[in-house]
Amino acid sequence: MARLAGAVVLVTAHDEDDGPRGAPAGMTATAFLSVSLDPPLVLVSVRGGSRMDEILEQRDRWAASLLGAEQRPLAGRFAMRGRLSDRLLFREVPHTLGELSGAPLVEGALAALECETESRVEAGDHTLVIGRVLRTALAPEAGGPLLYYRGDYRRLG
Ligand SMILES: Cc1cc2nc3c(=O)[nH]c(=O)nc-3n(C[C@H](O)[C@H](O)[C@H](O)COP(=O)(O)O)c2cc1C
Repeated sequence: MARLAGAVVLVTAHDEDDGPRGAPAGMTATAFLSVSLDPPLVLVSVRGGSRMDEILEQRDRWAASLLGAEQRPLAGRFAMRGRLSDRLLFREVPHTLGELSGAPLVEGALAALECETESRVEAGDHTLVIGRVLRTALAPEAGGPLLYYRGDYRRLG
């Protein structure tokens, strides 16, 4: 599967469990795809039992930011183990909070989708989280996407 090129997204949610006011959480993912147009559904596959899996089990609403080629450092940061116990994880990451989900939408992404979970399917060691797209936002001037192929980040061209 290292030979299947993938686009890199940042899946985010507002983790209400983390202290009285909660904290923003995020995870780098390539197992993300468009499932249906009518209704608009997308899917992300999350490792079962991971912190992000737990958060998405508790939070119906979440978001996905489709990362641009310049956002490689962000992808690295949100793939680090233990990052979700860092309360300052999003402090230096410019973002807004999604109107409908409360989830962070990172600035500079090609597009952002706010979603509501329709169903969760356990599949081997991962959970497939299928979400209905509630709202989308497109960057006015999108550059190229951030890709992942054969163990490394890439760009088009
Ligand atoms: C390029 C890339 C793509 C990834 N895609 C996924 C994915 O689709 N689903 C997933 O559960 N984890 C994915 N991961 C792993 C997570 O980003 C993260 O590293 C993992 O959750 C480890 O952190 P944790 O042990 O705190 O959960 C990916 C990592 C990288 C670097």
